[in-house]
Amino acid sequence: MADTTPRATSNRSTTPGSSTFKDFIGSQWAERDRTVPAQREQAPFAADRRAALSAKHTGRTVVVPAGTAKVRSNDCDYPFRPHSAFAHLTGWGTDTVVGSVLVMTPNGDGHDATLYFRATAGRDSEEFYANPEIGEFWVGPRPSLDEVAADLGLATADLGELDAVLDGVDASVLVVRDADTDLTRALDARLGTPVGGVAEADDAPASDDVLARDLSELRLVKDPYEVNELRKAVDATKNGFDDVIADFDAVLAHPRGERIVEGTFNRRARADGNTVGYDTIAASGHHACILHWTRNDGAVQPGDLILIDAGVEVDSFYTADITRTLPVSGTFTDVQRMVYEAVLEAADAAFAIVKPGITFRQVHATAMEVIARKTAEWGFLPVSADESLQPDNQFHRRYMVHGTSHHLGLDVHDCAKARRELYIDGVVEAGMVFTIEPGLYFQQDDLTVPEEFRGIGVRIEDDILVTADGAENLSVGIPRTPSEVEGWIARTGR
Ligand code: GLY
Ligand code: MN
Ligand code: MN
Repeated sequence: MADTTPRATSNRSTTPGSSTFKDFIGSQWAERDRTVPAQREQAPFAADRRAALSAKHTGRTVVVPAGTAKVRSNDCDYPFRPHSAFAHLTGWGTDTVVGSVLVMTPNGDGHDATLYFRATAGRDSEEFYANPEIGEFWVGPRPSLDEVAADLGLATADLGELDAVLDGVDASVLVVRDADTDLTRALDARLGTPVGGVAEADDAPASDDVLARDLSELRLVKDPYEVNELRKAVDATKNGFDDVIADFDAVLAHPRGERIVEGTFNRRARADGNTVGYDTIAASGHHACILHWTRNDGAVQPGDLILIDAGVEVDSFYTADITRTLPVSGTFTDVQRMVYEAVLEAADAAFAIVKPGITFRQVHATAMEVIARKTAEWGFLPVSADESLQPDNQFHRRYMVHGTSHHLGLDVHDCAKARRELYIDGVVEAGMVFTIEPGLYFQQDDLTVPEEFRGIGVRIEDDILVTADGAENLSVGIPRTPSEVEGWIARTGR
């Protein structure tokens, strides 16, 4: 399973193979400092998460791979990012060793957790200099088992020992199936189990689906470490927005100004965090009405509103998800302001109801009442706002087809496999973090709206922490009201 064979490069390989060379390159290296580090801040939180998972799966081995890098083309990969469940349960961040696997082995009522990873190879190994995928000469040094054990507060073992462990498991084993598909296939082949794991009963989901569900639900309420990481992500994202505004002259001057926006934001994400948490949307003019406009190859014209939906993912992989819609010339026109203020009213109304005990669904319903009322007032709906809000009508949704909120955390759309009754129909609890992101989008060819509205798209998206008795808008420091936004552009840009 732990394949260490380099991808074929024999037609261009120039590495010398003589024993004289091997002896020479494998010798005369100074000893590395292997002082074990102090335990990192997130280690006790990760231990609590493992304990919570353990309690749900007594007596069963749980396998959580980090996964491997995904191929971009030929022998080039996308940057490696471990599976979010692995990051959550280990607390390992951007320094995760590719291909690592967390195994939780039953031990009475609980589990023993062991982190298997490919430990540092000797300088006398061929891997050291001749393996472009994992060799130290190519991708940098790896830590020792002792270093990682101290750092993460977890027992560690060499990945080479994993096969023997997996040979010993029975069909009750649970695996995060989408983390490392080669490992999953190998495990299925060993056990002869059907794809998806074994269902407990005919009408029950396959057991691996239950694991995926539980791992998602474990992330619905954030612990203090996670909240702090999300704050850092939001702060870095604010800096990214500041950078973009400071660049508005260059944005307007370039034929693909949207790309300048993307590049400027993404530079901040790489500088201050790991990367962006999702592809930046830089959508100027009528592109703002294309909800996932990530091609970003349009011009930004004077007078445009530009919708920027962007978030920095920090080194622990927590991400912000923030949208601001900005008048690139510094001020809103009357109609742009009217649409903007309607969206802001929807966002503020939704935020105002957030506290423990409400249902998640109510946040969306509250925003939709404003969207329906505004679009009815403007004469865009064939019926009144009240009639439009009836479940079978929903005419106002023509102008906002997406939902208002999603959970946020290690994934931008976090907790994706949680049960409906704990998500959309779930009760809001302190420690949850989710977005509030209403919008209004009037397509450029929409004949139901007057011409001056066509091609205007506005979304305002904030990241909300539920507190003991209400909510905190984590991104309130990023200007939101029309006058704040205009002041921001006057101060920072142009
Ligand atoms: N950026 C994706 C979203 O807002 O959900
Ligand atoms: Mn979002
Ligand atoms: Mn977003």
